[in-house]
Amino acid sequence: MASSFTLSDVPRIAPAYTPSNRLPIHSEDDYPAFYQKSIEDIGQYWAGVAGELEWTTPWTETLKGEPAHFEFFKNGRINVSTNCIDRHARRNPNRKALIGISETGEERVWTYEELLDQTARMASFLHQEGIRAGDVVAIFLPNLLETFAAVHACYRIGAIYNIIFSGFSPEALYDRLADTHARIIITADATYRRGRLIPLKQTLDQIVERVPSVERVVVVRRAQSAVEMKAPRDLFWHEVLADVKTRQEPVPMEANQPGFIIYTSGTTSKPKGLVHSAAGFLVGVYHNVKMTLDLGDEDVYWCTADTGWLTFPIFELVGALAHGATAIVYEGAMDYPTPAHFYQLLARHHVTKIFTAPTWLRMLARFGESLARDYPLPDLKLIGLVGEPLDASTWYWVRQHVGSGQVDINNTYGQTETGSAWVSGIAGVNAMKPGSCGPALPGHAYEVVDDAGVSLEANRPGTLVVAKPFPTLARTIWNNPERYQDQYFTQFSGRYNTFDTAAHDQDGHIWVLGRIDDVINVAAHRLSTMEMESAILELPGVAEAAVIGFDDVIKGQVPIVFVTLREASLKGENWIEKVQEQVSRQIGSIARPSQVFVVDAMPKTRSGKIVRRLLKEIVTTGEVKGDITGMENPEIVDTLVEQIKAGSPGE
Ligand code: PRX
Repeated sequence: MASSFTLSDVPRIAPAYTPSNRLPIHSEDDYPAFYQKSIEDIGQYWAGVAGELEWTTPWTETLKGEPAHFEFFKNGRINVSTNCIDRHARRNPNRKALIGISETGEERVWTYEELLDQTARMASFLHQEGIRAGDVVAIFLPNLLETFAAVHACYRIGAIYNIIFSGFSPEALYDRLADTHARIIITADATYRRGRLIPLKQTLDQIVERVPSVERVVVVRRAQSAVEMKAPRDLFWHEVLADVKTRQEPVPMEANQPGFIIYTSGTTSKPKGLVHSAAGFLVGVYHNVKMTLDLGDEDVYWCTADTGWLTFPIFELVGALAHGATAIVYEGAMDYPTPAHFYQLLARHHVTKIFTAPTWLRMLARFGESLARDYPLPDLKLIGLVGEPLDASTWYWVRQHVGSGQVDINNTYGQTETGSAWVSGIAGVNAMKPGSCGPALPGHAYEVVDDAGVSLEANRPGTLVVAKPFPTLARTIWNNPERYQDQYFTQFSGRYNTFDTAAHDQDGHIWVLGRIDDVINVAAHRLSTMEMESAILELPGVAEAAVIGFDDVIKGQVPIVFVTLREASLKGENWIEKVQEQVSRQIGSIARPSQVFVVDAMPKTRSGKIVRRLLKEIVTTGEVKGDITGMENPEIVDTLVEQIKAGSPGE
């Protein structure tokens, strides 16, 4: 592959964080041997991790089968809600489990005992309704305390929950409900975002009659907004709980039973419902959160993701509770009503660790140094990230300006399919290299391979594949097991294809260069859009950068660049030339962008990814035809189209 690809000589930066004695290793010198042992006997490694949790029946076989058909902890019985809630409520009932904060300023706290009570009574209701192991309950909720009780109520009785992003359009919602045949839907009347009330029940009402499987809709009364309730199908959450006095005992589930379904979009086809096992997910995310964040019951922790994206189940719904942390659950936009709001919340709640997306750190950089200076945040120790490339410039900006120099940044890599962020430094142990995602976590075997599936040596980019199963790897696609096998495990004979391009360096750090589709081919040179974006972000004044490949008769493809600036007053500068020169200098003249657009804002998903596909569509067709209802900022699309059509470099 690309001769043009070079891993820049990135310094290894020793972490500022001191790991607790919860972690199995404390020095980077011990990592290679520890990792090697963990992947030589995967079963034994994961048995050790699983043994830290509470099982009702021990397993008889740790690992059976090969991808795509494998089982972990066979015949073992366990309940996820017991491990995430009861365990802590028993020991420390009054410890705060959840601090629910809304952008409206409202705050609510649930202790572990209160969370247990809500969960166990909601589970009792579901059971009364005839919901049993294997039945599907749809969760169409924003980030609320009730979301935790709803999810764990399902875990308690072995119901399969399908978590659905609350920003989806009625049609996107319909597709999911119709595919899973959900019997009960748990939703809210509405939710707040950026000062607006977003209706949820109304969205559901537009399509629910078309889903015959739905017997019951439970509505959390969030905003006291007027909602139509159809009797006897629709019930309010608080009314349901007022009538249910009994607490459902947890039902121990065999370790390979499905826990939940989460849909993810394919690039070309309909969204697929990935099925994660209940126990495997618990064991894997318990491990992920332990290694990545060293989370414990002394931590006040905030995962800023939205409920509808897998980051939230991993790092908050299951992962945070499995470690007995106090978790902040935030509803709304983090920079609403002011950019200072985020810093204020971190300071007020003495937050020790956060998990977020790179885009949010770029926003903080955009808000500026002086705002960061106003909040020294002495309690904050660690920021974990997932979801898209983190450029080195932002890494350094955060390290220098957020907190008082003590905050570490742990950039991790994972996918909805892998069910955990399996590439990640161990907190306070592995050195960090700005721009990389760190080494693979123990228990995760991988390779970087060429198109023929041959393993590549260090520093050579290829496709990242998973070589051996691990507990959080999705088990199948709902209603379509053949597709799971064909799509992910066929090209590289039994190894799981991530469809990401990556390279690992001589120190075992993994550099994710983007989706295979994001690698563009200029005159037979494969160039990484991520590498170009990182180079552009080094230019002072640039806040965000996105690169797309555009078809060109001569070169095959040429790079086109979009940037947003830290301040509007910078627009007058000659950005075309600056960006072109920067890319030529850092990567080579072959990568010189053919066009550069300065835009006011990037189109983004609610999980913070820049929607490059949409930028491409505008450049190619001059308009946007696709569904944009799930976007974070659909209102910017018209301006974006105008700015791109005008071909304006921003003057
Ligand atoms: O391309 C990779 C990118 O995000 C994709 C996975 O997206 P999603 O399924 O929404 O992730 C859920 C996270 C649990 C990957 O295939 N990606 C994720 N993390 C990184 C990344 N790209 C670069 N650097 C990362 N740290």
